[in-house]
Amino acid sequence: MEKINAVITGVGGYVPDYILDNEEMSTIVETSDEWIMERIGVKTRHILRPEQGSGTSYMMTRAVQQLLQKTQADPDSIELVLVATTTPDYHFPSTASLVIGNCGLKNAFGYDMEAACAGFLYAMEAGAAYIRSGRYKRIIICGGDHMSSMTNYTDRNTCPIFGDGAACVMMEATTEEVGLMDGVYHVDGKGLQNLQMKAGGSAKMPTHQSVDDREHTVYQEGRQVYKHAVLDMSTAVKQIAERNGLNKDNIAWVVPHQANINIETSVAGRIGIEEDHIMINIDHMANTSGGTLPLCLWEYEPKLKKGDKLVFTAFGAGFTWGASYMVWGYDGAPEAAKSPAEFYKEGQISREEWYAKRGVTDVKPMQLTDGVLR
Ligand SMILES: CC(C)(COP(=O)(O)OP(=O)(O)OC[C@H]1O[C@@H](n2cnc3c(N)ncnc32)[C@H](O)[C@@H]1OP(=O)(O)O)[C@@H](O)C(=O)NCCC(=O)NCCS
Repeated sequence: MEKINAVITGVGGYVPDYILDNEEMSTIVETSDEWIMERIGVKTRHILRPEQGSGTSYMMTRAVQQLLQKTQADPDSIELVLVATTTPDYHFPSTASLVIGNCGLKNAFGYDMEAACAGFLYAMEAGAAYIRSGRYKRIIICGGDHMSSMTNYTDRNTCPIFGDGAACVMMEATTEEVGLMDGVYHVDGKGLQNLQMKAGGSAKMPTHQSVDDREHTVYQEGRQVYKHAVLDMSTAVKQIAERNGLNKDNIAWVVPHQANINIETSVAGRIGIEEDHIMINIDHMANTSGGTLPLCLWEYEPKLKKGDKLVFTAFGAGFTWGASYMVWGYDGAPEAAKSPAEFYKEGQISREEWYAKRGVTDVKPMQLTDGVLR
């Protein structure tokens, strides 16, 4: 019997209309464009505002709809939807259930997977295992987060880092030598004190006090997280490279979690990869947690060629981390995808052009009310 591989055959994505830049961020907390650019590398981030929509499912639904339109796949042919998110719309039902319902995928089952910023990396491995089993032929894997829903906009240590967005990939069975080839995945269970949401789960139920203390937002010891992220992702990338004969001469792209530009370049740099072979969108999308890897694919899809060797790496709360090796399965963006890269990006299109493209008028700056950005 021929070996079955699991290959990505399409990418869809969505970022919300509103663009929060560093200038506006500096009116919310005491910070500056210079500080944020130097230490994190974020210029702008997209924020899902309540008047536009709410919940991660809002963004994922649009990403999946775009994926179906781009690939021209029959919605009835989708057998499974895996969702990697840390900001589900509700504790239950799952965000996957909502996305499946919204998109009318009547033959699909699905569920959420939570591994913080490493969620999409793990979900690709899980999805590939379903395909390799031979029982499933066509599935969708989503990654994305509504990070502004759990960001403390009175804490300058964390609020410039995060943005909202979601993307998804179609994964299908193939007997060609393309697709997800290998992966190394880790959890150490030690990161609780360094990166967590303190309340709202079963260990610490929500109370008036927990709301007053802003314990339903991201708590982070930045320095500790930085150290672990660089070391652990570098080790995983080296391991995956060594055992697959990968090096700076044959890796087309490193696809890193977009946590901090300095983390990304130093992880890729440790195996000699230059910046023009690293997928980077942190400057205009910030850290969208489960969304970073698929949003990179969404944006770089037109540049990808069949046979390109890709190394993914991610790191998140838990701590969770790893790296995977993929051989890309098709050339560029499919014909149906006229212009997936219609993003606001410094020097690409202006913020005003972006709003005009989206048909957004009368954009009012966001207001901080009781620590919540609206
Ligand atoms: C968060 C992070 C950018 C902070 O950078 P850092 O170099 O470690 O900065 P520090 O926390 O040591 O703070 C240095 C100084 O800048 C100040 N500072 C913090 N945030 C600031 C901001 N937004 N603007 C201006 N100054 C700020 C601090 O108060 C501190 O001032 P002090 O020296 O007077 O006390 C960095 O630690 C980081 O990226 N960590 C990893 C985060 C991450 O990847 N998270 C997601 C994981 S999935």
